[in-house]
Amino acid sequence: MKTLFDRTRIGRLPMRNRFIRAAVTDRTYDGYISNAIIKNYAKLAESGVGAIVTGMTLVDGEEKILPIVALCSDSFVSGHWKLTEAVHKHDVRIIAQLAYIGSYTAVGNNGGLVAIAPSSVPNLVTGTPAREMRLGEIKLIQKKFADAAKCARNAGYDGVEIHAAHGLLMSQFLTPHYNQRTDEYGGSIENRTRMLVETHHVMREATGYDFPIWVKVNCTDGIPDGITDEDFDYICRTLKGIGADAIEISGNWTPHAFKSGAYFKDAAAKAAAENDIPVILTGGNRKLLDMTEILNGTKISFFGMARPFSREIAIIERFRREFEKNFANTSIYVM
Ligand SMILES: Cc1cc2nc3c(=O)[nH]c(=O)nc-3n(C[C@H](O)[C@H](O)[C@H](O)COP(=O)(O)O)c2cc1C
Repeated sequence: MKTLFDRTRIGRLPMRNRFIRAAVTDRTYDGYISNAIIKNYAKLAESGVGAIVTGMTLVDGEEKILPIVALCSDSFVSGHWKLTEAVHKHDVRIIAQLAYIGSYTAVGNNGGLVAIAPSSVPNLVTGTPAREMRLGEIKLIQKKFADAAKCARNAGYDGVEIHAAHGLLMSQFLTPHYNQRTDEYGGSIENRTRMLVETHHVMREATGYDFPIWVKVNCTDGIPDGITDEDFDYICRTLKGIGADAIEISGNWTPHAFKSGAYFKDAAAKAAAENDIPVILTGGNRKLLDMTEILNGTKISFFGMARPFSREIAIIERFRREFEKNFANTSIYVM
């Protein structure tokens, strides 16, 4: 029987257990890591989680005006270094989530920046209008992801995660609603996936092939003209094919925000069954027994949790006590 406390690997990274703190955005006024942020990550690491994905981290200096952590030039590296050092003290892995927000930012908070997007489609959540990206801008954003990944490596991160979920720029390229391009980046799912594939490729070239790259994707956009199930299958197959190290499966989670239970379980189980790649299931994971059942009934092997850590920092300790009570005779696998 597999347990949530197995000492295992996610791709090439050793993990002390199967729990991952899913990304929660960190606020900062100037893009730099503050002492308060470092303290928060040290506390998370002390909690006994296996790995932490940072809050979305901006790859573009222009978006640095947003009150979110950035990693868009060498000047940001020393702050991130302090953060990774604080986490590594506790035998916990730390992954930098890299993001370009684009039209997902609300107008008024973006200092007059004109949002760019695959097509000039206003954002469904924020209403922010967008200008269609030129080919040169597509290549430029890819390069910014590559530069940020290199900075992440220099800052001591154990890997990076491309945020390609939740309607941010990378996710918009995948989604027919936002991507109405008629060039090689739009139309078929092969074309809509091209931005993600090329970005992954330039990041690999920048960081070296031994540096883990995870990708967070939607299994559903929650809109009628969002990605289809077949699109999602194609995206997962492609990520496996290009050598991504793990896929974190999410979706437009806001309609599910008050549900308990892992609402993307079926899609994640299918992706894990069909692709030999570590799959992280995120969204609604709350109960040790439910996660244990999923772990043993599917090929999903890691569990992301965001809000549970914000509410109860000692949640892993509680799970450990529950585990010892319920599975007293089960041995923990040690790799
Ligand atoms: C306050 C808050 C901030 C979040 N920030 C991010 C983020 O920066 N990047 C991301 O991929 N997801 C972000 N999420 C979504 C979570 O990573 C996760 O997918 C979602 O909360 C569902 O998981 P949960 O049920 O365990 O909370 C955020 C969620 C919350 C509640």
